[in-house]
Amino acid sequence: MNKQALEQIAHAMVTNGKGILAADESTGTIKKRFDSIDVTSTEDTRRDYREMLFRTDEAMREHISGVILFDETIRQKAADGTPLTQLITDAGSLPGIKVDAGAKAMAGHTGEMVTEGLDGLRERLSEYHALGAKFAKWRAVINIADGLPSTACLTANTHALARYAALCQEAEIVPIVEPEVIMDGAHTVERCYEVTSAALTALYSQLGEQGVYLEGTILKPNMIVSGTQNPVQAGIEQVAEMTLDCFHKCVPQAVPGIVFLSGGQSDLDATAHLDAMNKIGGLPWKLSFSYGRALQAAPLKAWSGKPENIASAQAAFAHRAKMNWLAAQGTWSANLEG
Ligand code: 13P
Repeated sequence: MNKQALEQIAHAMVTNGKGILAADESTGTIKKRFDSIDVTSTEDTRRDYREMLFRTDEAMREHISGVILFDETIRQKAADGTPLTQLITDAGSLPGIKVDAGAKAMAGHTGEMVTEGLDGLRERLSEYHALGAKFAKWRAVINIADGLPSTACLTANTHALARYAALCQEAEIVPIVEPEVIMDGAHTVERCYEVTSAALTALYSQLGEQGVYLEGTILKPNMIVSGTQNPVQAGIEQVAEMTLDCFHKCVPQAVPGIVFLSGGQSDLDATAHLDAMNKIGGLPWKLSFSYGRALQAAPLKAWSGKPENIASAQAAFAHRAKMNWLAAQGTWSANLEG
């Protein structure tokens, strides 16, 4: 394992307030996003949409440190024949790759999921490395419900995350480890805290057992929020305080960076929460973003599949990227939203 190379990549992913654009929607998920704007999902429309994002010069140069790609995208070329990965590297950003094969129903555990994708992963990582990937992502899904999650679900998912992370580091690829505690449900913010703590504790125990080099990893967690169907919603300050409290207890200081998922939060909530945490400060890790929806909802809508909307869609993406870059430094304020 080349520890120095891994550390350098991990550091670059969270430096100077920069964060990650999660553009790794699977073919099924991007179809859902395109359905919402009445655009047919084809290889070309997916390419056009993502090319538009990666050509948003200001965002890519100043605010986005890396982009998580889907298998199709890492192999795709822009309309003029330039590989999409080259658009990303030309802007000084890093290409990354989603390598899990999705969360599947867990046998014997109704309502729970286990993420697949370890078989053949060593070979796939070596191919992705040759295609330019500097980091990877694997997402585990943890649902909260009565009596859930089970210990079996936490153990199986964090064990897979640790085996994935070890294989990534062998291939000189920084693993983003993502144990996502899902927001759906009527649970309280305290229950989210409890489950997230259990997931992170299991995760760092498994990463230790598999000999993963924490300085060469990035954590991608959920924030501690109230279940979406709970009528009582924790406010911005409470979310920020509880999330930091949980991480101080559960995330080792050796981890260089934590990049949040947005998970269905509104664009503004995702930004405001990140900003509030960085305003509290005194953190041993960099705290930034790896948003999918909270970076793409606005440009997706502005684009709506029409070439004449590219400039306004790029402006919408640039704006969200800049707002989150400010939030990652604790210097955002609501009146900058315009
Ligand atoms: P969201 O920010 O839309 O949750 O997506 C981030 C991601 O990559 C989830 O795996």
